[in-house]
Amino acid sequence: MKILGIETSCDETAAAVYDNEEGLQSNILYSQIAAHEKFGGVVPELASRLHIAHITSIVEQALQAAQTSLADITAIAVTTGPGLPGSLLVGLCFAKGLAYTQSCHLIGINHIEGHIFSTHIEHEIPFPYLCLVASGGHTSLFLVHGYGAYQLLCETSDDAAGEAFDKVAKLIGLTYPGGPRIEQLAQEGEFRDYRLYPRLKNKTLSFSFSGLKTAVLYDLIKTGAYDLSTKTILTNDHQLRVEVASSLLVAIGDIFLDRITLACTEHQVQAITFVGGVACNKYLRNLLSSFAVSQGYYFATPSPSLCTDNAAMIAFVGNYKAKQGLFADLSLDICAQKSR
Ligand code: KG4
Ligand code: ZN
Repeated sequence: MKILGIETSCDETAAAVYDNEEGLQSNILYSQIAAHEKFGGVVPELASRLHIAHITSIVEQALQAAQTSLADITAIAVTTGPGLPGSLLVGLCFAKGLAYTQSCHLIGINHIEGHIFSTHIEHEIPFPYLCLVASGGHTSLFLVHGYGAYQLLCETSDDAAGEAFDKVAKLIGLTYPGGPRIEQLAQEGEFRDYRLYPRLKNKTLSFSFSGLKTAVLYDLIKTGAYDLSTKTILTNDHQLRVEVASSLLVAIGDIFLDRITLACTEHQVQAITFVGGVACNKYLRNLLSSFAVSQGYYFATPSPSLCTDNAAMIAFVGNYKAKQGLFADLSLDICAQKSR
């Protein structure tokens, strides 16, 4: 059984083939980052148009790299949400067209479920486990019981962690996406907490990152480095950027660790996983890994190319849904909003 996965929920046009026996056979991606960079973030209309322009070639490349053809595909798994409506529609309509003309099955996949199970492509993880999903759109903790069986423990009430990296990066004059640039600067600052931004630490499981971004903003205004009326950074002080980036990363690491520690006291788990674009961050990977190992939990995080948006995770989820017989018909629709 071979599954073709298609992912177009945001600014990556991606396709992959997953074989039930052989595992991942191809994983192809066209990143739109360069096109959106000059606007400081993803422009939805531009994203949809770029998906339309690239999807045919990306799917062809995925089939070719897997040395297979549409005739050998058992089912097409496609992201139906959450994400940008226009972008999701491009992937879904393309998948429906293929499924109809090839007479193969269609499977709708939740993007977050894709991220949660992305770790399984490369690792065997004992259930139940705790999964921290941290990306540009989501920051949530899940208790994962089995394939397709997972329970939301908490999610951010405002910005996602990746969004905090992106917004602070913009404040200090760095380009989109901010996460990798913040990581580079933080490394220069040796991951020290120079500016002591306050962390909201509740006694209940929850996430909130917009206050952290505001704390950075007021810190910059106070030091005379930022003009709120024109929304511009007024300094070229590299050391200040290093200090802000390093302090932000340390604060986000603290918040992650605090929430995971609390979740581990409330739930019996065997492992901890860390997924989503923010999980590319080596400092955060090491921090969570050290905690997990010190507490006797198995720890896993995907390779960076499987942390950021990709179709391999969609094809992987499609594979177990196909085994469970969870097929959709051609009335399948997008569900752009986050499900709660
Ligand atoms: O999972 P993803 O590709 O897309 C969403 O579903 O949102 O995640 C993108 C997010 C961006 O906010 C980006 O800044 C962040 O992941 N990110 C990072 C790093 N690499 C990407 N954040 C921190 N450190 C990184 N190295
Ligand atoms: Zn994502």
